Amino acid sequence: MNHEKVEKNLGLMVVLIVFAISLGGLAEIVPLFFQDETTQPVDGLKPYTALELEGRDIYIREGCHVCHTQMIRPFRAETERYGRYSVAGEFVWEYPFLWGSKRTGPDLARVGGRYSDDWHRAHLYNPRNVVPESIMPSYPWLFERELSGKYTATKMSRLKTLGVPYTDEDIAGAKDAVQGKREIDALVAYLQSLGTVLKDKR
Ligand code: HEC
Repeated sequence: MNHEKVEKNLGLMVVLIVFAISLGGLAEIVPLFFQDETTQPVDGLKPYTALELEGRDIYIREGCHVCHTQMIRPFRAETERYGRYSVAGEFVWEYPFLWGSKRTGPDLARVGGRYSDDWHRAHLYNPRNVVPESIMPSYPWLFERELSGKYTATKMSRLKTLGVPYTDEDIAGAKDAVQGKREIDALVAYLQSLGTVLKDKR
């Protein structure tokens, strides 16, 4: 019996299992590359400004994504707390994605506009200033360090090759837009931009 042959031949079984899983994976994944819903930006999406882009890199450097997700799942408990659920079209220009997988702190996908800039500054300087029971670390050095803007234009032109629609003007003005600003300004600008494109449309 063929079935018995497969069950008694480990090598053959492994090959057939890999084949079956690949076929299933292809059937599920490949169509996503061709659907507008997953490949096209949502209406009104704008690429990060030079300052926001630097803020995003600071977010990555400081490991914020290790404690915070940026992905609101389509469940009532999530949408009531964080706002409209995330959709693929919001992330088409994200390199790399910062969806995260662990929520030690709250999801930040729609934190833009939820608090004032001053709130964020007080919070990042020492979270206990505004949330007494917070276990989030303090980031006081962000208030001292200045941005040089040395690589901002390069980063933007690299992103452009990946399809992010930066104009030549954006790239030419990148250094001036960030030079001399503090890291905290960049990080807060980034946080305030998060999720705003779909914020009010539930
Ligand atoms: C060790 C885990 C941890 C790390 C790392 C961390 N956070 Fe937090 N964060 C928290 C926790 C817990 C809270 C909830 C308490 C509070 O508001 O302080 C929080 C809250 C926040 C909030 C308020 C969200 C809301 O909706 O109320 C923001 C904004 C935030 N964090 C941004 C950041 C940024 C930016 C970084 C990186 C510079 C960062 N966090 C790093 C744990 C963390």
